[in-house]
Amino acid sequence: MVQIWPMLGARIAGVMLASIDVVGAMVPPHLLSRAAAQSFDRQYVVPQPTANDDKADWWWMNAQAEAGVNGNPPANVQVIFYMGYLLGRPSADAPEFYATITGLFSNGSDFSYTADATKASVTSVGSETIGSWPGVGSFLSTPGKSFDVVISAPGVEGAISIQGSVAPAHYACNTTTSAVFSDFAPAASTSEESVLFSHLGWAVSIPGGRASVSLVLGGSPLTFVGTGYHDQNFIDTSDMFADVISQWFFGTAQVGEYVFSYLSATPFGSNATVTTGYLARNDIVLQNQCSVSATGTSTETQATNTNKLTRFGVIHSEASAVDVPQGYTIDYVLSNGERYSFTLTEQAEVVDLDVYHRSIGNVSGGKVGEPAKTAVGLWEWLNPGKNVYVAKSA
Ligand SMILES: *[C@@H]1O[C@H](CO)[C@@H](O)[C@H](O)[C@H]1NC(C)=O
Ligand SMILES: *[C@@H]1O[C@H](CO)[C@@H](O)[C@H](O)[C@H]1NC(C)=O
Ligand SMILES: *[C@@H]1O[C@H](CO)[C@@H](O)[C@H](O)[C@H]1NC(C)=O
Ligand SMILES: *[C@@H]1O[C@H](CO)[C@@H](O)[C@H](O)[C@H]1NC(C)=O
Repeated sequence: MVQIWPMLGARIAGVMLASIDVVGAMVPPHLLSRAAAQSFDRQYVVPQPTANDDKADWWWMNAQAEAGVNGNPPANVQVIFYMGYLLGRPSADAPEFYATITGLFSNGSDFSYTADATKASVTSVGSETIGSWPGVGSFLSTPGKSFDVVISAPGVEGAISIQGSVAPAHYACNTTTSAVFSDFAPAASTSEESVLFSHLGWAVSIPGGRASVSLVLGGSPLTFVGTGYHDQNFIDTSDMFADVISQWFFGTAQVGEYVFSYLSATPFGSNATVTTGYLARNDIVLQNQCSVSATGTSTETQATNTNKLTRFGVIHSEASAVDVPQGYTIDYVLSNGERYSFTLTEQAEVVDLDVYHRSIGNVSGGKVGEPAKTAVGLWEWLNPGKNVYVAKSA
């Protein structure tokens, strides 16, 4: 039984909860069923994924310090609560419910834990959602406001809190009704496109907020304040993510008064790339678009209400022996023609596998023509298709 802070439990619909495990028993069923249709951060795969299918539902958060010390990359942590697998089930009896806890200490050393749960439950009451992974920890999500995590797992204890979301919760595509892309995508011509367009979801509860991290990992403390982000993703057909998605780029940062994220995903055997761009300034959404384009197409003039991802430079990633981009430029053009640009430069890889690279580094940018602001960001290149990156020569 995982104890959640009584203070947090008490906030949920006024119901006093000593333990989130009992929430289902204490909330009237009519309230639960009504809330389930509304909560932004809910369990999207219903019934929840099992060992007999390849569905997956996962709740992600990342937090990073404002800056590194002594020339090291900024301290950071990512916690992902999983139901199911993305890159393949490691063994037939691998646990269905688990979490990964990865990051870097302030001296640059990395840590990586996988903690197994005996079960998992995600319950929504009104707009709030609580998740419980017995043996790992729990979370409480208030979309557009806060995300709190408590970890109590072998080797890892402590709490992470993201407060004061700087922008509203959102789906891709500027819709308030659907976490998938299908309303905006062309008819799928392959089964992989069909999964990407209609069965892969993205719901961002906290586009950016103030993070406080207080963990003890293997006896070593990890304590910092900085920025944080939280989203929820799912794949609700029995198709292993890594059999469908050839590559996927994602990144997010809070830079000055701006917060942004991007996602670009290409399925196997398809020319289609789904792109989403999100940019907000002081709680005002400047762009929230999704689009499907032929992979690799580039035109001289970037269309309005789009964002564009450009890779530059090369770093030979040590553990995986893969060449990864040194960084990315993300260009946003709004519907009114205004331009914003952010440059992401890798300082270190937090996760370095042949099919997956998670990077921490510097981000600088803002409105084109105005002085650039700088900050720390986190981004990833998920590459089940083992696409080869070759830097353009200067
Ligand atoms: C960095 O800090 C961690 C946590 O305190 C420690 O386990 C590790 O040995 C340190 N690494 C170096 C190279 O000092
Ligand atoms: C991708 O585009 C190329 C060139 O237009 C075409 O030959 C190929 O059939 C397309 N493939 C798919 C999967 O649409
Ligand atoms: C989102 O859609 C609403 C309603 O159609 C529209 O008023 C708003 O301008 C859109 N916002 C963005 C950032 O595209
Ligand atoms: C990132 O920013 C820090 C602080 O401004 C600077 O010391 C460091 O050199 C930068 N690193 C890269 C890779 O740009």
